Amino acid sequence: MRFGVAKRGPGRRNLVKYSPIQRERRPPFPFSFLLDATMTAQIIDGKALAETLRQSFKARVEALAAKGHRPGLVVILVGADPASEVYVRNKVNGCLAIGMHSEKITYDASVDQAVVLAKIAELNADPNIHGILVQLPLPKHFDEEKVLEAISAEKDVDGFHAENVGALAQGNPRFIPCTPYGVMKMFEQGKVDLNGQEAVVIGRSNIVGKPMALLLINAGATVTVCNSRTRDLKFHTSRADIVVAAVGKPKFVTGDMIKPGAVVIDVGINRLPDGKLCGDVDFASCAEVAGQITPVPGGVGPMTITMLLANTIEAAERKAGL
Ligand code: GUN
Repeated sequence: MRFGVAKRGPGRRNLVKYSPIQRERRPPFPFSFLLDATMTAQIIDGKALAETLRQSFKARVEALAAKGHRPGLVVILVGADPASEVYVRNKVNGCLAIGMHSEKITYDASVDQAVVLAKIAELNADPNIHGILVQLPLPKHFDEEKVLEAISAEKDVDGFHAENVGALAQGNPRFIPCTPYGVMKMFEQGKVDLNGQEAVVIGRSNIVGKPMALLLINAGATVTVCNSRTRDLKFHTSRADIVVAAVGKPKFVTGDMIKPGAVVIDVGINRLPDGKLCGDVDFASCAEVAGQITPVPGGVGPMTITMLLANTIEAAERKAGL
């Protein structure tokens, strides 16, 4: 985050952003009006970034296909959770739209775990399949860890296999979990320099919170991992330059918890009683304080599937020796 510089963007007035310290040295009248004008966050548009990246993937897919390695992803869905069904459909369609091969394999919720493990073993040995994803959560009778470990680490495009988690923890990632990978791309898009920044991650899941924290650590940030039960969450968030909310609670993070000028990333997707989608961040109040913010929908969501495509293409490129 660079303070005290004019921001230039399409359709925006050139505004000057001030850090809390600079605000103490606020410009004298008649320029003090700039201060309030700075309180509107810039949006990091995940939908647009996802589209740009997906277009750029097409050439890599065709180059692989020309060498007989068209990237292929299999998505396994167990049960009929409506949200999971939507995610899985979007993953398969996302692949097909850029010329990749993709198929969905579905099982009844009551299926024996051994049947799914046998299918994973078959896919591990299939040279036309470069990525295997088992949609989570699995039904209660499944041992999730056992299923994720059964996927060959070279085809684990989710980045959930212990080998890939270990490589990420060591700062030498092979497959980065898709949602935090997408968030890192959004930081890049927003020209957010993470080195030396205070970052707070709210949420400690294996899918988002933990890998997000590791990526931020690897990028040189000072990282605090909070959760929904953290005592005095505001104490942590209000001194953070970066807040990543992945806690699964609608509008959990409010503007009074945010440091002026901070970057606020909303990973949440919650359905309100009126049917509308909202994130873990109260967008209206946070956008008045933050320097940059991601919307829901149209923020992190489209980036998750985009990075799944990226990981699958990468898997195919490695296999092809590219
Ligand atoms: N369920 C929710 N998010 C994810 C994800 O990123 N990968 C898988 N496999 N399941 C999920």
